[in-house]
Amino acid sequence: MRPSITFLISAGPTIEDIDPVRFLSNRATGKLGMCITRAALRQRHRVILVHGPVSDNISKMMPASSRLKRIAVRSAAQMHQVMMKWAPKANVVVMNAAVADFTPVALSHVKLKKAEQGLILRLKPTVDILNELGALKTRLRNLILIGFALETGAGTSANARRAARLAEANRKLHAKNLDAIVLDTPAAMGADKADFTMLLSNGRMRQFKRVSKVDFARHVVALGVELFYDPL
Ligand code: CTP
Repeated sequence: MRPSITFLISAGPTIEDIDPVRFLSNRATGKLGMCITRAALRQRHRVILVHGPVSDNISKMMPASSRLKRIAVRSAAQMHQVMMKWAPKANVVVMNAAVADFTPVALSHVKLKKAEQGLILRLKPTVDILNELGALKTRLRNLILIGFALETGAGTSANARRAARLAEANRKLHAKNLDAIVLDTPAAMGADKADFTMLLSNGRMRQFKRVSKVDFARHVVALGVELFYDPL
C-alpha cells in the first residue's frame, strides 16, 4: 500500500455579510466535502478541512481523529487566507467549497433600513481561490489540485446543455492550472446521489451516474492518491 498523504479539502458554502442580520450565500450543504474527508481519513491519510458554515447534522459527520485538522471559516476572503496558508503543507488540494463569487462592496455595521425605492446592493468579485492555488502550483512542485465545476449549461436540448457543461469544465481545468476537475450540476446540492464527471488534464474522462456521495468521495480520494504518485 502507498504511504499516506495530506489532503487539504475545502467544503460547504461561504457567507458574505451585508449587515449584522443579512447575508449572501448559496445552497451548498458541505455534505460531499465531509464525505471526502471521511473517505480520506478512513484510508489513513491526513486531512486539513476548511469549511464554511454548515448545519449541525453535517458537522456531526466529521469524525474525531488525530489526523484531522478542522478550520471553520465564514467568508470567501477568510477561506482564501486559510487555503493559501495550508496549501504548502498539503500533497493534494480538493477545492470542493461553493465559494461566493461576489461580496458586498461595503459591510454595513448597522442594520440597513427598509428603503421606499428598494435597495441597490453593490457587489465586488471575491478572489478566485482555486485560481490562486493554480498559480501557487507553478512554484510548489508535486502539489496536486482537484477543482469542481458547477454548471447548468445553456442550449435548447439536453445534449447541447451537456456539451456546454463539459466545455466549460474543461476551460476551467486548464485556465486554473488543475490536474483534474469534477463536473456536477446544481441538482447535486443537498442531494444524496448525483451524476459526476471527472475530467483529467491529459484529456481522460471518468463518468459516475447516480452515485452516492459516500461512494463518489472514495473515487475522489483515490484520484488524489493516483495523481500524487503517478502525475499525468
Ligand atoms: N472557486 C474558488 N473561488 C471562487 C469561486 C470558485 O476557489 N471565488 C472554485 C470552486 O471551489 C470550484 C471552482 O472554483 O472548485 C469552480 O467554481 P464554479 O463556481 O463552478 O466556477 P467559477 O470559476 O466561479 O466560474 P462561474 O461561476 O462563472 O461558472
